[in-house]
Amino acid sequence: MPALRDAGRKIESLRDKIRHHEHLYYVLDSPEISDAEFDGLMRQLKELESEHPALVTPDSPTQRVGGKPREGFVKVRHSTPMLSLDNTYNEEELRDWERRVHELTGRSEVDYVCELKLDGMSLALVYENGRLARGVTRGDGTVGEDVTLNVRTVRSVPLSIAKERLKKAGIPADFEVRGELLIPLSSFRNMNQERVSKGLSLFANPRNATAGTVRQLESRVTAERRLDYFSYMLLVNGRTFFDRHAKSLDALETIGFKVNQARKLVHSMDEVWNFIQEWEGKRESLPYEIDGIVVKVDRIALQDELGFTGKAPRWAIAYKYAARAGITKLEDIRVQVGRTGKLTPVAMLAPVLIGGTTVRNATLHNMDEIERLGVKIGDWVQVERGGDVIPKIAKVIDDQEHPHGTREFVMPETCPVCGTKIVRTEGEVDYRCVNANCPAKLRETILHFASRGVMNIDGMGDALVTQLTERGLVKNVADIYKLTKDDLLSLERMGDKSAQNILDEVEASKQLPLERVIYGLGIRFVGARTAQFLAEHFGSMEALERASLEELQNVNEVGPRIAESIAEFFSIAANRKLVERLGAAGLAFKGQKKERDTKFAGKTFVLTGTLAKYTRDQAKKMIEDAGGRVSGSVSKKTDYVVAGADAGSKLDKAKDLAVTVIDEDELDKLLG
Ligand code: IVH
Repeated sequence: MPALRDAGRKIESLRDKIRHHEHLYYVLDSPEISDAEFDGLMRQLKELESEHPALVTPDSPTQRVGGKPREGFVKVRHSTPMLSLDNTYNEEELRDWERRVHELTGRSEVDYVCELKLDGMSLALVYENGRLARGVTRGDGTVGEDVTLNVRTVRSVPLSIAKERLKKAGIPADFEVRGELLIPLSSFRNMNQERVSKGLSLFANPRNATAGTVRQLESRVTAERRLDYFSYMLLVNGRTFFDRHAKSLDALETIGFKVNQARKLVHSMDEVWNFIQEWEGKRESLPYEIDGIVVKVDRIALQDELGFTGKAPRWAIAYKYAARAGITKLEDIRVQVGRTGKLTPVAMLAPVLIGGTTVRNATLHNMDEIERLGVKIGDWVQVERGGDVIPKIAKVIDDQEHPHGTREFVMPETCPVCGTKIVRTEGEVDYRCVNANCPAKLRETILHFASRGVMNIDGMGDALVTQLTERGLVKNVADIYKLTKDDLLSLERMGDKSAQNILDEVEASKQLPLERVIYGLGIRFVGARTAQFLAEHFGSMEALERASLEELQNVNEVGPRIAESIAEFFSIAANRKLVERLGAAGLAFKGQKKERDTKFAGKTFVLTGTLAKYTRDQAKKMIEDAGGRVSGSVSKKTDYVVAGADAGSKLDKAKDLAVTVIDEDELDKLLG
């Protein structure tokens, strides 16, 4: 079929051209053709491929956007654990680290590679036969999530690498690249602006935005966000491939990966220190966020000698920059009311430019924090902004002598929104408004109810909920189910399509299981996990509503405090009425009653090291299914530490605290 062969040739030649220009544009930042010319090439390729669908391959540049929403992410075990880094915060700590490197290697002169510490998320890319096979998140370091479809949309990630290129660089066709996935600051800002206009909650910092984006189920959305990827590690069969780290980086660049240009091979700690200082000043000029510098021993033979501690290599260290700070005047302290009625004092600041952003307010968390800082209205304060959107007050400047005119902040006695008397429960830090009908609480309650982990009503975010509550269209969560299209169309910036989408989302939420509805009620102390236990134990909303304090306490992890909170909720007639209306609206009030195994009830487990038979998640699920709890750190309260191969500091700690250590077989036995 000569026509097909011709088309095949044409298609391959177009793909090569497009890959070449993508590399110039997305990796090297130096395009040679105009966007229009590039689009023209893409269009030709798309046309040819649609005429010859049999010739479409997954590594074609047209296949970056998949678009099909998926069920969820598959767990994948890493070829070798993805570790983190130990941190240092000053020159002395850095020199201490160098001393240890000298001692452990027996050398007094060691070469280092300095790199920027990019503030995104680490991501492993597995290539098989020169083609991108999988993109996997770090996860718990041992097992991550397969996010390949989304990773394919990142333009600086090559979908395939020509054999000749690999050969030239001396790299086999099966290899793995690790690096940092990040969102440039400009995209981050656009994304948050867009979220404001859609009424969605903001991402606190670019790192969260990156993680949120790559875990999007719809890859089309990921594609819009313009993520970027910088590689910093090359592995073959789970091991570092070249004899020097600097060579790995150069080779990665040769085969078409983006490697950060601000890297430097140096021969002494003085040079490392210069590099750190140089970039501290220049970091504001970068189009993305960095939070420090990573220093790595260059020679792999020395890296091997140095090895690892529990979770981090001894051959690398992070130097963390201090948070960016500015000094300004605290003009006032206002109080915000959250969903649970909690009052949060917020500092109103004289506008101050910190790291390119004008900061006008900062959180003060609670009364204890105000006392700890000793801050008064009128004080000059040091404000810090990490990568986060919400800055914080680090300290009072010259706190010995408050400038003339400062005044003490006093928590109001009544709610600033509804005027009800404020209470502070004995022994608790927070002050709260207990009026169930407080409009401020209402707004937050609705936002909680509609959020992704609860009733997942996409589009019902900040801006929309503010309008709905202010106009009295929604006075409680049940009102959401009464909204009509006309109600929605009467709001600002609401078109027919958006209104319909919201109604569809509201309708779809009725399919969600009982535990979501219980969680959505916003009962104090009832989080997602408790809601799940309650749904499984009682099997219906009616049974939960009727339950006595004793019955409630028979539920896994429900103690007197939670039981009382639930009983109190249902003792209020308005709440019972609300629940009744939710039932009438058609929300799930029946669930699957599940007898929970109580073998491990009240027992806390910690998992450490690499387990052989199960993934971490499987082991965790088995323990939780038996009524146990899995915690991340070892303490006196830990009942068992399950240790796999290469267990590190957690195992040491367990031994110190005389906590029982078991292996997987013993865990199996305990589970029967
Ligand atoms: S090397 C075993 N290099 O920092 C080596 N990490 O705090 C571990 N990171 O999880 C990673 N820039 O996500 C390395 N140039 C860089 C990095 C970098 C950012 C991140 C990475 C890691 C975290 C540890």
